[in-house]
Amino acid sequence: MAPTHQAAPIVDSTAVFKENIFKGKVLFCTGGGSGICRAMTETVMRHGADAAIVGRKLDRITQAAKELSEATGQTCIATQADVRDPKLLQEAVAKTIAKFGKIDFVICGAAGNFLAPISGLSENAFRTVIEIDTIGTYNTIKATIPYVRKTQGSYIHVSATLHYRATPYQAHVSAAKAGVDALSAVLAVEEGPFGVRSNVIAPGAIGDTEGASRLSAQSAEHRTRVVNSTPLGRIGNLKDVANATVFLFSDAAAFITSQVIPVDGGSEHLRGLP
Ligand code: HXC
Repeated sequence: MAPTHQAAPIVDSTAVFKENIFKGKVLFCTGGGSGICRAMTETVMRHGADAAIVGRKLDRITQAAKELSEATGQTCIATQADVRDPKLLQEAVAKTIAKFGKIDFVICGAAGNFLAPISGLSENAFRTVIEIDTIGTYNTIKATIPYVRKTQGSYIHVSATLHYRATPYQAHVSAAKAGVDALSAVLAVEEGPFGVRSNVIAPGAIGDTEGASRLSAQSAEHRTRVVNSTPLGRIGNLKDVANATVFLFSDAAAFITSQVIPVDGGSEHLRGLP
């Protein structure tokens, strides 16, 4: 179905939300050194928060933290850890607490992906993605929850829409992200009585990301197919995910928990149309 109207606008969060709504808040973000999670971090910082970003590659997260601090006027620190290692994650959390004294917001975003059919997926390849995405999310929750309870804070888990129906060559990520959705929902109902919220953002095809290039969304043919199957008429932008992040962390979402919010222009709902 080719779009018949103008594509949805791409807006800056500051055009909609007040600039200081996260003043004094602290964000802990896994995968924040690049891509979607870096954009989410930058936007939360633009609204006044300080941040700690977690990644495996020290040089990459150190550079990213410097650039995020300069771009936003807030403080961002780099905390090196592989989310598969609970001890390293606990050390990253300890470093964050030593620097900022608390954690209000957590983004569980570290992820791994590649295209491979089940028949060509080794046990180690499958396990690796489950360990990064699902167990990494569990490890992040475990390491941060005592602090997030103290602030009555909020989690956002970065999932996907792949597993809503069978997506070829994505068995590993589909299984992993279904687990992430489940973890978020249980976290929400268990921690709600402590004032903690937990939601999922499920990005659709987002342009200019490592995930998109790994899934070939950069080829002209693929892009046209994605746009034509998106009711709102374009490929997703990093700002779309960042804006949803600001809303979900804000007090405007104070009664929203245990939800999955697809940021996909409606593409997952387009079924059976020409
Ligand atoms: C088949 C592959 C493979 C490929 C790796 N493997 N790439 N198998 N096809 N293209 C296999 C390896 O052969 C190995 O199995 C196993 O996976 C582990 O690989 P390693 O390289 O040893 O693991 P590691 O260094 O930990 O790297 C993890 C990784 C890598 C996931 C494989 O791609 C990575 O670091 N990715 C992080 C960045 C990333 O993926 N970002 C995009 C996220 S986007 P054997 O059997 O040989 O030992 C995203 C969005 C999802 O998640 C939703 C999109 C819409």
